[in-house]
Amino acid sequence: MPEQLPGRWPKNPLIYELYPRSFQDSDGDGIGDLPGIARRLDHLEALAVDAVWICPINASPWVDGGYDPSSYTDIHPKMGTEDDFAALVDGLHGRGIRVMVDLVLNHTSEKHPWFVKSVAREDPYTDYYVWHDAKPDGSAPNNWITRFGRPAWSWNHKREQYYLHNYMAEQPALDLRCDCTDDEMANVISTWLDRGVDGFRFDAVTTYLYDPQFRDNPPATPEERAKMDGEPFLPYVRQNHLHDFLPGDGAAYTENLRKWCGEGIFMLGEIGTGNQSIEVTNSITKPGRLDTGYTVDIPQYGLEAATVADMLERSDNVPGLGWWIESHDRARQVEGPDDPMVRFHLFFLAMMPGTALVYQGQELGLPQPHLEEEEVTDPYDRAFWPDGPGRENARVPMPWEAGDGGGFTTGTPWLPMRWPEGASAAEQGGEGTPLAFARAVFAARRDLGIGEAALDGWTREGDVLTLDLSAGVRVVLNFGEDAAEAGTDDAPAFHSAAGEWSGALAPKSGAVWRV
Ligand code: NOJ
Repeated sequence: MPEQLPGRWPKNPLIYELYPRSFQDSDGDGIGDLPGIARRLDHLEALAVDAVWICPINASPWVDGGYDPSSYTDIHPKMGTEDDFAALVDGLHGRGIRVMVDLVLNHTSEKHPWFVKSVAREDPYTDYYVWHDAKPDGSAPNNWITRFGRPAWSWNHKREQYYLHNYMAEQPALDLRCDCTDDEMANVISTWLDRGVDGFRFDAVTTYLYDPQFRDNPPATPEERAKMDGEPFLPYVRQNHLHDFLPGDGAAYTENLRKWCGEGIFMLGEIGTGNQSIEVTNSITKPGRLDTGYTVDIPQYGLEAATVADMLERSDNVPGLGWWIESHDRARQVEGPDDPMVRFHLFFLAMMPGTALVYQGQELGLPQPHLEEEEVTDPYDRAFWPDGPGRENARVPMPWEAGDGGGFTTGTPWLPMRWPEGASAAEQGGEGTPLAFARAVFAARRDLGIGEAALDGWTREGDVLTLDLSAGVRVVLNFGEDAAEAGTDDAPAFHSAAGEWSGALAPKSGAVWRV
């Protein structure tokens, strides 16, 4: 069995988020898989990423694309086998790339044997999930609402009790307060560590624990509502999630995760609390907890100097911040490979101190594809189509080559691939393409030592943010629509705008100097 890659993680790793269903198919069934990923190691190596985070590969009915595990340790048959996983880990490690898998500890699928046995009150599974009696009038225990817009309680007629779920009813929430689940979670983690993984991305950490008294959430104030993560039309954003999001001791639960993982294993958490995201991240990245939390601030408020400054101001642990712009949960943010924003986004991710999360396809400048209603399978998008977040569009498979199947599959891709000309990896790599820029800017990140840098100081003047990093590096980012002064006559070590350095920062561009 593979072992962890020797040596330690960079302080600020550059992590490539890989959505395996849509990365590379190897057997013609139209669905990406583990042997497929193993075919694309050259691509990953040439990007010089420190690690890949592989979205769920566990067995699952795929109601929510694997974020509904029917097993935490069995590999989904469509993804491959344990041997395939071992070969992939060896292959990635051989290229110096660390491996993270996604762990969805907040909930399972309703098909998970634990839930089936819990419904039947079969010990020791009886209390594995968050069960609650109905109110005397038969209604749900409280007013909690799911992130997907429905009530958070569903009735199970066999147990004659309600169970909690933060997402779909098919994703019952585990009761992580119950000691009964501790050994299970420790075992899940040790199984993956035995398979050689170097880190984990923990799904939905902010919904791990609930108020033990199950109190109603109060209504959100207009300010809280404006800052809530979620589509503005959802009832979810009308509540202040005081009692269903990390009440009190919730963040401390991550100390268990650290205990089970041990030191040296990288732990990344998804932070979903819109109105307190950075404060929660501060708490969840204290010593003995997670390394990094990534919040919804940038997708929620936009990639602006004010957003980033606000995040830095509220953070008491900048290396604990994860920087990201796109993911498998959000619409893609650029118009296509020719959009100058592609370069600005990649530069921003490469040069910020903290963990950088690059979503597959950002290196190609992929635009948000259009899908017809009947093509969409994601339950969240389907519930509000066409007004949903466009999660599934962002999961349209990677175009490796031009033409049918895009080099992704020899069969019919699970989502239609209608990428514009010039979007595929085979058409890129030449000067001026996003792929060439991505390789160059990530190499510059390494050369400049950003992976080990701390933030010594920063200032914001209007749309311009200047960051002084301990590596003897100054990063200047112009988020505005107008050109901005660079503050020096020296040419930068690297800059994001196309063409020669003009002496000033072009709109929506960045530059970096050794100082
Ligand atoms: C966050 C994941 O990124 C998302 O895809 C999923 O639907 C929810 N958590 C539920 O697990």
